[in-house]
Amino acid sequence: MFSLPNTFPEFPEFPRGEVWLAGAGPGDPRLLTLLALHALSQAEVIVHDALVDKRVLALASSRASLIPVGKRGGQPSPRQRDINAILVEQASLGHRVLRLKGGDPFVFGRGWDEAIALADAGVYFRIIPGLTSGLTATALAGIPATTRETNPAVVLAAGHRAEDGSSRADWEALGRLGQPILLYMPLLQLPDVAIALQRGGLAADTPAAFIQSASKPDARVVETTLARLVEDATLNGVASPTIVVIGTIAGLRSRLRTYLVDWP
Ligand SMILES: C[S@@+](CC[C@H](N)C(=O)[O-])C[C@H]1O[C@@H](n2cnc3c(N)ncnc32)[C@H](O)[C@@H]1O
Repeated sequence: MFSLPNTFPEFPEFPRGEVWLAGAGPGDPRLLTLLALHALSQAEVIVHDALVDKRVLALASSRASLIPVGKRGGQPSPRQRDINAILVEQASLGHRVLRLKGGDPFVFGRGWDEAIALADAGVYFRIIPGLTSGLTATALAGIPATTRETNPAVVLAAGHRAEDGSSRADWEALGRLGQPILLYMPLLQLPDVAIALQRGGLAADTPAAFIQSASKPDARVVETTLARLVEDATLNGVASPTIVVIGTIAGLRSRLRTYLVDWP
């Protein structure tokens, strides 16, 4: 472990009865923020998603109780309102509660729902951003989210949303937009999304890539095109967690040749 320079700003106190809603990044603990690391060392109760890497949880204080609330082994996920209730209850018991989510809590992570529930229940909370997997996976794969030559914008979109009536992207409109898309939770709706993007005007040979398990030991990148997305996902056994990148940026990494050193 490294030591911080003594010019480093002090970490805030973690008061009893408070909830810290933090992002754990895409997996590798070296991608945690220092504030999330501080929270792990101080928390008495850690309510975490299945996506939070074991190596991150291993950094928790040995006194902390871990409460998993993610979807595991095909079991149904706990309902959001039950998770909210756990957070409020644990805070009311006077614990220092860390709510740890994969990536960033406010990017396809239901962090907003929990923040509102805490505010409504009169519980003080802090939000600690994390590295979101879409932007981290692309960077680690050598795929720039933007370049001056290719795209002035980039779209973060969720391929699949929980069946809770939440809004869905208008894929044809995103196809017309012609800007690269970083697709979270891509696999369930991939065939429909790929067809709709082409119907909207994205060329069939638009470069695309699957980035699976970014920053984890089993990380891999599969390069393909929009037209071949579904076939190549099946041929290569692409599995969750995966980000799909669709757009010119997905084809740029070959220019880095072998000089991009493998993570870490
Ligand atoms: C419910 S969303 C949570 C996103 C998270 N809040 C974030 O900011 O990254 C879960 C999706 O994130 C993506 N994801 C999370 N971790 C990943 C990783 N290490 N590699 C690739 N994709 C990842 C996958 O698309 C996965 O289906």
